[in-house]
Amino acid sequence: MKLLDGKHVSEHLKIEIAQEAADLLAKTGRKPHLVAILVGNDGGSETYVASKMRNCEKVGFKSSLIRYDNSVTEAELIVKITELNNDNSVDGFIVQLPLPQHINPETITEAIDYRKDVDGFHPVNLGRMQRNLPCFLPATPYGILLMLQFYNIDTEGKNCVVIGRSNIVGSPMSILMARNAKPGNCTVTLAHSKTKNLKEITLNADIIIAAIGKKNFVTADMVKQGAVVIDVGMNRETSTETKSGYKLFGDVYFEAVAPKCSYITPVPGGVGLMTIVSLLKNTLAAAKNEYYS
Ligand code: GUN
Repeated sequence: MKLLDGKHVSEHLKIEIAQEAADLLAKTGRKPHLVAILVGNDGGSETYVASKMRNCEKVGFKSSLIRYDNSVTEAELIVKITELNNDNSVDGFIVQLPLPQHINPETITEAIDYRKDVDGFHPVNLGRMQRNLPCFLPATPYGILLMLQFYNIDTEGKNCVVIGRSNIVGSPMSILMARNAKPGNCTVTLAHSKTKNLKEITLNADIIIAAIGKKNFVTADMVKQGAVVIDVGMNRETSTETKSGYKLFGDVYFEAVAPKCSYITPVPGGVGLMTIVSLLKNTLAAAKNEYYS
């Protein structure tokens, strides 16, 4: 069993990103600039956005955080999004999800100019992704591709099961693994809450990507010997054991599953760190107008 080490891979990629940002600054006098909009005080979102901002500074990007409290209206957010769409000093921006109930995330996502949509959630980016055209890829699936690429894991012709069909992870991940690309070219099954006989399906999988949001959901009896297991779970529980007062758990019962795997990602220290690197890569690409002019 080999650990897919998100810390090692993300640090390696961040050195490359920092070098490219420095080159861009020398050439144009500008740093890539990412803006994040954060609504409310959700503990997880606070942590993730703070980490995104911190990592921007680490690689020499400019970052700005715009905060609203939970009472902000959809119309107010749209005004800010329109302003950011038209602001030439902003290369890319994100609206951290989840949003309060009274705000429709689809309306917000579609209001973002797809050329600045470094989350890769806009339908234009998702459509271009499906067609294998240059675009911003959603951060978590993109991070998983970067991880598979770094460890040179062969995916061609493999059976891949993605568990969970969220807009952010499962659904785009299933498309990316099936594309005629490297990594890709898998035979993909997208499993979800209505799937029957899940264990039968996962036992046939060479690659399992768990993105269901349930602690210890994938157990050893569901995994074939030698499988590659990618754990996207970020299940947060309060804990007296840690300084932060909470502990992260994956969707995979790591201790029991790991001995059966050829490769597995830990939680924390796996996919989560890669997600931030993807956002940095997308922001750099936006600053360079790599996909859109
Ligand atoms: N919430 C959980 N993951 C993400 C993400 O990748 N982007 C945004 N904007 N919100 C999230």
